[in-house]
Amino acid sequence: MNAPARTWPRPKLAHVGGFEALETEYNYVVPHEQVTGAIPEAVRGTFLRIGPGRNRIGGQKFGHWFDGDGMLHAATFRDDGVHYRNRYVRTPKYVKETAAQKIVFRSFGHNAPGGPLKNIGKLPANCANTSMAWHGGRLLCLWEGGRPWQLDPATLNTVGECDFDGKLKKFNAYSAHGKIDPRTGCYYNFGAGIGPKGPGINLYRINPRGELDMKGYFPMNIVGVFCHDFALTEHYAVFMISPIVLKHPVQFALGVKAFDECMDYDPRKGMRVHVVSLADFKEVKTFDIDPFVAIHYSNCWEENNELVINVTRFDDWGVNEALRNVFTHENDDGARLWRFRLNLANGRVQSEALPGHMKMEFPQWDTRLSGAKTDVTWSPVIVDNGTPGFFNGLQRVQESTGDVKIRDLGDGRFTSEAMFVPDPARAREQGWLACAVYDANTNRSDIMLLDARTLEDVAVVPLQNHIPFGFHCGYTTDAL
Ligand SMILES: [Fe+2]
Repeated sequence: MNAPARTWPRPKLAHVGGFEALETEYNYVVPHEQVTGAIPEAVRGTFLRIGPGRNRIGGQKFGHWFDGDGMLHAATFRDDGVHYRNRYVRTPKYVKETAAQKIVFRSFGHNAPGGPLKNIGKLPANCANTSMAWHGGRLLCLWEGGRPWQLDPATLNTVGECDFDGKLKKFNAYSAHGKIDPRTGCYYNFGAGIGPKGPGINLYRINPRGELDMKGYFPMNIVGVFCHDFALTEHYAVFMISPIVLKHPVQFALGVKAFDECMDYDPRKGMRVHVVSLADFKEVKTFDIDPFVAIHYSNCWEENNELVINVTRFDDWGVNEALRNVFTHENDDGARLWRFRLNLANGRVQSEALPGHMKMEFPQWDTRLSGAKTDVTWSPVIVDNGTPGFFNGLQRVQESTGDVKIRDLGDGRFTSEAMFVPDPARAREQGWLACAVYDANTNRSDIMLLDARTLEDVAVVPLQNHIPFGFHCGYTTDAL
């Protein structure tokens, strides 16, 4: 039996309800009898999803989608059904603004009320809303401008800010996009900051025991303020620093303008690729390339002397307008997946858009093969089905053949990142996709499992509530 449809005045822009707040923190099991289709017995792990649980407070809208308070959702596939729970991360911003029922903190997209004197010298508040990591016994909620926040994996209760036993200092940012090397079990992350040679990228390695056991740093030639993700190959970490810069640093420092208002894409500054050895975090090579906005990377690997870097490419920073105005803006349709070949021996750079795919964001792959050659990328897309305001479909891109499979999720049904769920009994890149789908017709969400090859439904798990649109997802074979 499916969950009953709820009476819900679907808004004119159908997807907008997906940005509305979820105030209640749930903890319940959806029994298998309520699931349409069947959850494979091999799927007994946990699907995670994070994003802003609310985008306004006390009637005040936050300045940017990035300012929403982080809420983690977990759905564990068990023998008795699917165990769903959701919790806000108890950051100081969340706790104080919940008590006050108004904006208190300076954030990425808005200043604190009260004028410059209330904002001067202050950094945007940590929202712990962007991505998560389950590694070394810690469940962390990530936000690229600050330190991670640790949650109890069983209850999703907030443990506190994580400093890796004092090794991550107060102003060490720790990005939303760490990556695990499946060969070693080590997890790599980074953060933009100040180092011995000025603005640069700080690097961190966390071993499988959860210990921060190596740090590094390289300087940037420009003060890039939006280095969101990086590429991990077998031997290297690769950073493409887009020329998104702080155009008005003084106005930001004096509290006159919010951080977002001071950012600008300036292609005249150029774009540099930094290649860092994983062995010692020493920079081994740089490449100067034509500028673009790099956001997320699909899987990347090494072929002979070449680094093969697959990255979502925007030609400008226009997508930020949609991110600022989530309640009124129809979304940008995404980026092209672009493949760079960077030759470490002779410095040659080749690049091309991978053919055939629809514009996209949030590319994913079989992470058992991270850093080794893969052939399939999955991503959300926007299809022309009458409700194109947000990601309403998924695609499977087979890179060697250019074959593209599109799945339309249906009228008023929206998703975001979909995670590859490996089938231990089948070969590489075979398994399922797990994603959360918001249904504007009922104002609730489903957790869906799709066949990773055909993109057809395998199981649809109806939740009692909606999952607000978020940024990133995760899947672990551990039953948290
Ligand atoms: Fe991201």
